[in-house]
Amino acid sequence: MTEFDDFADGPVLGVETSCDETSAAVLIGSHLAGHVILSQDAHERFGGIVPEIAARAHLRQIDDVVSEALAEAGVSPDEIDGVGVTAGPGLIGALLVGLNWAKGFAYALNRPLIGVHHMEAHLYANSVAAPEVEPPFVALLVSGGHTMLLHAREWGEYELLGETRDDAVGEAFDKVARTFGFGFPGGPEIELAARRGRPGRFRLPRPMLSSTDHPGDPAYLDFSFSGLKTAAALLAGELHEQGGQAAVERAGPDLAAEFQEAVVDVLVAKTKRAVKLTGCGRVLLGGGVSRNSRLRDRLAEELAGLADVQAPPPRLATDNAAMVACVARYRLLAGERSDLNLNADPAYPFPGLAPNIT
Ligand code: KG4
Ligand code: ZN
Repeated sequence: MTEFDDFADGPVLGVETSCDETSAAVLIGSHLAGHVILSQDAHERFGGIVPEIAARAHLRQIDDVVSEALAEAGVSPDEIDGVGVTAGPGLIGALLVGLNWAKGFAYALNRPLIGVHHMEAHLYANSVAAPEVEPPFVALLVSGGHTMLLHAREWGEYELLGETRDDAVGEAFDKVARTFGFGFPGGPEIELAARRGRPGRFRLPRPMLSSTDHPGDPAYLDFSFSGLKTAAALLAGELHEQGGQAAVERAGPDLAAEFQEAVVDVLVAKTKRAVKLTGCGRVLLGGGVSRNSRLRDRLAEELAGLADVQAPPPRLATDNAAMVACVARYRLLAGERSDLNLNADPAYPFPGLAPNIT
């Protein structure tokens, strides 16, 4: 026990700097009272996140972002009762900015600190908008760095049902978007282009679906997007050979529609398998890719009668500090505290995650 132990469910400050969003939030009870998300658009012209630029931008912005969130909530720093901060996974330089800022704040004001796992935070984004949502549920977490299927019997107790064996789904969206000549981040660009296109004109594989139909097979609930990404690149390469960049651009909407459909087919099929296997009547989505409306719509359609599908509102699906504050509040209420020597960890283990035992 340290002097930082008191927590009486007063305002919780959440801080998120794991990638390229600088964000701070104030949660009072389950009410989101202040929330600021500052996205860094400096990365667009590089076609991806530049870690050093991200870390420097966080450093420049963090004080103002926190001040704004506090002002929006009408809460002064000394009214904050506990601080939650993303400790990993993420870019080490970016994580360190938020973590060190939060440690300084906790130490100076003598408040409890809690390190938060970024992907657990994506799951809790659902609770920010709908605090009444309770386990058991299956969770599909799809971001730029992770693709996971979980079974939660309780908050904080998770079973890993499946994960990607190579690229994360968001990463595949971003890389394929670049091959097709779209901007960064690729997910929203592909979704937009796909609305003008038609899946099926080009044909891409649905990885790890057809040959892995048996629940005992370790590939039954796992994902792989690297081959799909390569297939998409080859397709774009062939079109380029035939008609140059103009041919790739003309085919853009149909390419985007087929790629999106291939990804959604896989995500929907695996989630349905997980629902049937666990008997859960609820599915929670999380992570940036859960903003994709084709994914949301197809899941809702194909799980109708089997499970309710919940997704965070778009602003809470991509990186934000509200979800971090929400995990922090839950864990602080449970009596957990992090030491002030807590370190940022790009491979931070998912708390309470047990291997697949279903
Ligand atoms: O969760 P997030 O904000 O950051 C990480 O933790 O990685 O997710 C970012 C990812 C990016 O790969 C981005 O392309 C993808 O989410 N994304 C989308 C959409 N919006 C964002 N992917 C597909 N469709 C979207 N509408
Ligand atoms: Zn994220």
